[in-house]
Amino acid sequence: MSRPPYSDIVAGLPSVTPFVGPETIERQQGNTFRVRIGANESAFGVSPRAAAAMSDAAAGVAWYCDPEGYELRSELAAIHGVSIENVTLGAGIDDLLGLIVRMYMNPGDAVAASLGSYPTFAYHVDGFGGRLETVPYRNDRNDLMALTDLAARTKACILYLANPDNPTGSYYGSNAIGDLLDRLDRVPSDCLFILDEAYLDFVPPDTMLPIDVDDPRLIRVRTFSKAHGMAGARVGYAIAHRDIIRTFDKVRLHFGVSLVAQAGAQASLRDPDFVAGVVKAVEEGRREYRELAEDAGISALPSLTNFVAFDFGTGERAGAVMNTLIERGVFLRKPVAPDLDRLVRVTVGTPDDRAVFSELFKDVMNGK
Ligand SMILES: Cc1ncc(COP(=O)(O)O)c(C=O)c1O
Repeated sequence: MSRPPYSDIVAGLPSVTPFVGPETIERQQGNTFRVRIGANESAFGVSPRAAAAMSDAAAGVAWYCDPEGYELRSELAAIHGVSIENVTLGAGIDDLLGLIVRMYMNPGDAVAASLGSYPTFAYHVDGFGGRLETVPYRNDRNDLMALTDLAARTKACILYLANPDNPTGSYYGSNAIGDLLDRLDRVPSDCLFILDEAYLDFVPPDTMLPIDVDDPRLIRVRTFSKAHGMAGARVGYAIAHRDIIRTFDKVRLHFGVSLVAQAGAQASLRDPDFVAGVVKAVEEGRREYRELAEDAGISALPSLTNFVAFDFGTGERAGAVMNTLIERGVFLRKPVAPDLDRLVRVTVGTPDDRAVFSELFKDVMNGK
């Protein structure tokens, strides 16, 4: 029996994906991790109010959710000082990135990003038949000047930037991002700018680029997966010009953010003290990680996220330490791109997580 052929784009895709979860490694290793600090999830859980709201909402899942996500979008719009017509929901930023790529990119088009930046953007670009053009990081930060030059040179239809960045943890404040937008304006390529702000809850508010929904060149994407501790619920949102938000309606999965997820996100927004507590606990954890790295004679990159990149100097050393820690029960991940491969990304865990990690890390660094 012959198999109907896959589309050319799908037939050309690699069979490996960037999404190997800790569960997969546990199944392969035949044991469970003692500490899960590899995927930048929140170790500090979910707001008790959000948990209660999700539990209540679970009783109603016989019904479809509100496909417009009206209540959650209204609250988000009020918080950000925009109209509900400037906000759309998605099943996390990962979902929204796929929709944006589909909205703006034709097969064969170029898009621009840093080499080794958050891989899901590249995954969608491949999946829709685009061409990823990259420039390396510079001094462990996105090279904003080189990125805009790249976008101009390759006539990129999209420029992607995670700010704060994954995997380095670095961050640019409003002046630098404003300058980037000014430079993009001089690029004659109609380039859309995606600002992935997954970790924005962790940065000082007075450094954030103000929201301007009149700007049709920019889509900002945010998530409940980090400071709100709702990675498993899958809720994210985009803020953009109302024409763009209307266009999302042509491609999005209208019932894709579940009833339970919508209720949880809404309740979490009403518990800002919980989120502020997480941000504070994460700051403390980052400080501890920096000291741990320094005591072991290595450095850690400055971070405004919920993780810290430990710098082992070479990819070989970083890989060896990480693999030993994984074998001993610590779920970790590291970038694979040249130069960044010397880093291991460690998510801030609870104080208990950190105590276990610290002990195992010191053992490995001391050759035990
Ligand atoms: C830069 C960046 N964007 C997006 C995501 C994923 O967000 P979500 O869970 O909303 O899909 C992550 C998760 O690690 C991330 O680091």
